[in-house]
Amino acid sequence: MAGAGEAREELLTLVRSLKERVELDRGQGYPLSYLTGCQPAAANSAIEKKQSPGGTTTRACEEPLPVKGTTLEEVRATMDDCHRCSLGQLRHSLVFGEGNPNAELVFVGEAPGADEDAQGRPFVGAAGQLLTKIIEAMGLKREDVYICNILKCRPPENRNPKPDEIAACEPFLMAQLQAIGPKVICALGTFAAQTLLKTEVPISALRGRFHVYQGIPLMPTYHPAYLLRNPSAKKQVWADVQLIMNRLRGEG
Ligand code: URA
Repeated sequence: MAGAGEAREELLTLVRSLKERVELDRGQGYPLSYLTGCQPAAANSAIEKKQSPGGTTTRACEEPLPVKGTTLEEVRATMDDCHRCSLGQLRHSLVFGEGNPNAELVFVGEAPGADEDAQGRPFVGAAGQLLTKIIEAMGLKREDVYICNILKCRPPENRNPKPDEIAACEPFLMAQLQAIGPKVICALGTFAAQTLLKTEVPISALRGRFHVYQGIPLMPTYHPAYLLRNPSAKKQVWADVQLIMNRLRGEG
């Protein structure tokens, strides 16, 4: 009956995550459109704003994702020479993401830094080297997984991404994840975890258990850049990646 136990545990995890998200979204006044079967709201040229009869502007519910196509190449082609937010003018490279287009595991970070902007590849600086070590400690290679960020362009001085930048970029991340169809997403750091889970709960409280993003199990963990400053947190990241490995093996 291990199968039934696992299914029950998975269902409980789903229900807990949904409850948590509904409570948080309700508290913050976000629309609970996912409860009514609506797709996530779109954001780029396809953001559609509708005038309600009362004159208030509300986000249209619900067009499909704005990104046409189902392959990563098509998603990339749709982004083109993206200038949907002001970061387009400042970047050297658009850092789309890289790795196995059929990866079972996708890592999502915050945004490119200086090294990534210079090379056009995600996680290639000091934090990226630590991420590579984590991946290898999991018995995988960088080429086995897919690595990308919430934002595809570097914010100046590595400042935090702004809401309009996220709104412009997140649909492409969603489309990337849809194209890949991973078994597990690992959100690296506060920013990626809070953005994907639409929550302000601190990473220290989010990590250590699976949440759900667009139907995909999501494990938040500390960002490798945080680990460089706080090496003692490595054991918690190791615990998180063990949970991921178990899940990938069908054991968790
Ligand atoms: N930090 C991130 O979040 N992403 C990168 O690509 C590099 C550093």
